[in-house]
Amino acid sequence: TRIEKAGYKHFMAKEIAEQPVVIADALRHYTTRDGAINLPESLDFSTVDRVTLVACGTAHYACHVAKYWFEQIAGLPADIDIASEFRYREPPLLPGAVAIFVSQSGETADTLAALRYAKGKVGKVLSVVNVPTSSIARESDLALPILAGVEVGVASTKAFTCQLTVLALLALKAGRDRGRLGPDELAQHLNGLRALPGLMNHALGLSGDVARIAEDLARSEDVLFLGRGAMYPLALEGALKLKEISYIHAEGYASGELKHGPIALIDDTVPVIVLAPRDALFDKTVSNMQEVMARHGRVLLVSDATGLAEAGAGVWRGLALPECPSLFAPILYAVPAQLLAYHTAIAKGTDVDQPRNLAKSVTVE
Ligand code: G6P
Repeated sequence: TRIEKAGYKHFMAKEIAEQPVVIADALRHYTTRDGAINLPESLDFSTVDRVTLVACGTAHYACHVAKYWFEQIAGLPADIDIASEFRYREPPLLPGAVAIFVSQSGETADTLAALRYAKGKVGKVLSVVNVPTSSIARESDLALPILAGVEVGVASTKAFTCQLTVLALLALKAGRDRGRLGPDELAQHLNGLRALPGLMNHALGLSGDVARIAEDLARSEDVLFLGRGAMYPLALEGALKLKEISYIHAEGYASGELKHGPIALIDDTVPVIVLAPRDALFDKTVSNMQEVMARHGRVLLVSDATGLAEAGAGVWRGLALPECPSLFAPILYAVPAQLLAYHTAIAKGTDVDQPRNLAKSVTVE
């Protein structure tokens, strides 16, 4: 069947807008009505001693977020790697490990080669894919579809948040299997995940505000994204999205690393996008943001209404997302990051769905 834009100007806009629906689908698929996680019994993390997550591009940033989840929720050591590095570094792998390969297409050459390297060395090869008939799905011991539906836009959006959703459920399962999460805590986390589609709908409603901010972003030459904790990989993903489709140089940085380099770039021409949900690290991120403002950087603070009221004095722009369980904030905060890239590309007049030099799926090395 031909995939249409269904009234949207671009596939990317349609795919951003579809996220509440596809995430709800994925959650319905991987949970039961009575509030349990519905993942294969054969997937048991109780004796696993390490997870290794490998992918390319946006899927790699999903792995990077998941690293925080596996560590925090399940107390499980988690490594992440870029597939092209992993495959040639030939890291030692032990049978107590589970290796997770994340790929929208399931055909990325480096990720497939990394999977083939890991097979037989680790206890289990798991894949998190959008295309269930893909090579990566077929060659893994267990393939978990993310159920995002066909993604056409080269810049990945709904596949990213669906990857995150499935990875969050895996981390919760690992937490349960390893006795780190009680049934009540699990139920609470699952309720948090189920709230996300509604919160994302709210975030999508900020599209007009984001478009106005993007008019200004489109005139800049460099943009910096900052975040702490699991918002650090979101900063990396925000920067990747922006550079991919607007061709503006963008970098994502861990807020705490600001002093070790990027602060040298700050002046009044550099927009700095601060991804700061009101979590345990909020005050730390805010103090980094103030260092940027002291050097006349133009801060866009992305937080919730209380966060903006507490810390928004003097910022260039603010975006108020709804409040959200901080553990899963990366899924919600992906929406404004995507919208910023999208509207900046529109303001610049670039080809949103087919950015220059990029391919949807990199099947040759
Ligand atoms: C390309 C695409 C990206 C994607 C990456 C990994 O670079 O443009 O959007 O994140 O490949 O692709 P995969 O299909 O393995 O997720």
